[in-house]
Amino acid sequence: MRKQIAAANWKMNLTIEEAEQLMNEILEAKIFLEPQQQAVFAVPFPYLINIKNKIGEQPNFFVAAQNCASEKSGAYTGETSAQMINSININYVLIGHSERREYYNETNEILTKKINLALANNLNPIFCCGESLKIREGNSQNEFVQNQLKESLFHLAAGEINKIIIAYEPIWAIGTGLTASSLQAQEMHAHIRKVLVDKYGEEISKTISILYGGSVKAANALEIFSQPDVDGGLVGGASLNAQEFITIIKSLKKINCPIN
Ligand code: PGA
Repeated sequence: MRKQIAAANWKMNLTIEEAEQLMNEILEAKIFLEPQQQAVFAVPFPYLINIKNKIGEQPNFFVAAQNCASEKSGAYTGETSAQMINSININYVLIGHSERREYYNETNEILTKKINLALANNLNPIFCCGESLKIREGNSQNEFVQNQLKESLFHLAAGEINKIIIAYEPIWAIGTGLTASSLQAQEMHAHIRKVLVDKYGEEISKTISILYGGSVKAANALEIFSQPDVDGGLVGGASLNAQEFITIIKSLKKINCPIN
């Protein structure tokens, strides 16, 4: 059975005091997670160790970096390598968020390098993909997303692709309050799953988690997560509010829900 994941993306928000307060409130809720459920917190670099320590032994709670360098090590001032992230016992890294693609010119080719370095350093990449409004209006979102997967992931062997978590985040729904309908999300997730089946076969593809991102909030999480190919969410704005994110974590599918 594949993992069901509620991933928070704090982006460039919160002071350390605010971050610790938010984490305290979430931990105080003592959320019980089923074995296949996870809560992942992608926090700013300076807080990785603090938040990891705060989480402690809380079962199925993990911390993620929001990015890693595309080079291994050396004279790259201001960058943080996958090896460094691994060396402080962090297990996840976001790769290819649309804000990184747009504001920092991260191409599919650069993202391939990041994916390889993340895997080589035992990090599980949460690989983000998704189309702009223009592409959606032109109805070429399926080809566009397929190409993002092909160019950054499809060089991976079968034993590597199953370490990847995919986050489908339509750019037009990120931070805009516009959410893809649960049907639109399911359609794209089913398409991504089909693309994975064609490349890697049924057995492997059904173990890969595909998260939806784009204005997920407490009020819509349950409906979106209930779709058969939606395995949780990557959540920006609503993850900065403890009560919102607690409800989102609790909206993950339970173990007895049938999954295709
Ligand atoms: P949002 O952001 O939930 O604020 O739309 C999602 C994301 O960028 O991961």
